[in-house]
Amino acid sequence: MKIDVFFTPLALGTSDLAGRTVVVVDVLRATTTIAVALANGARAVLPAGTTEEALRIAQNLERDAVILAGERKSERIPGFALGNSPGEFGPQVVGGKTIVMSTTNGTAALVAAQAAREVLACAAVNFSTVVERCQAALAERGDLVILCAGADKQFALEDGFAAGRLAKVLLPEGGARHVSLNDGAVASLELARHYGERWGRALRASAHGRELAALGFRADLEACAAQDTHPVLPLYADRRITAYRPASEG
Ligand code: MLT
Repeated sequence: MKIDVFFTPLALGTSDLAGRTVVVVDVLRATTTIAVALANGARAVLPAGTTEEALRIAQNLERDAVILAGERKSERIPGFALGNSPGEFGPQVVGGKTIVMSTTNGTAALVAAQAAREVLACAAVNFSTVVERCQAALAERGDLVILCAGADKQFALEDGFAAGRLAKVLLPEGGARHVSLNDGAVASLELARHYGERWGRALRASAHGRELAALGFRADLEACAAQDTHPVLPLYADRRITAYRPASEG
């Protein structure tokens, strides 16, 4: 069994993706917001690397059915209907809509992972749902990549911690002895050991968490630190993220 953690998409080579399941983590706030949007009935989220790309994608969609969302420097992109606060993506707003979304790091990380066999978006809000899918992937193929969005091409504490939480629950009983872990996975497990299950502490300690608090987004920090409030499996395929539902659910 093999678990690799990469702290930024820059660390990723093309061969790291082929045939593998990749879990993208941007817990503050893009993957949280995406999970919340899908759990609240959004039809799909289309990640765009840049503002221009988001506008171009939206142009080709039916105007009434599409919402532009995203941020730069944590604030809503001018002219876009929504920013990147999970609380903005309520059922009344996003139900039945396609969201075209561009954020500073999160959507770019998703786009960077799209050549993988399977790409999932993970946050605290949908943690246990993603864990279940990862357990299945590990049982099938014995192999998983956790990709942190990071911050401006650098390590981000909150994503490193989230990756470690995920790696920790996926390790077989008895620990890591029979698992091949890259150094990113070993370091993220140390962070998970340090913070335990305290998502809020890790998020508030991070540079981005402190920046969000200073900008008045404290409610977002709480929302992003709440585990399993939105049990949804965001699956990214064919340029769109949709809520995966097993065939038996119809
Ligand atoms: C990102 O993509 O960098 C984050 O989601 C930034 C944010 O908190 O808005």
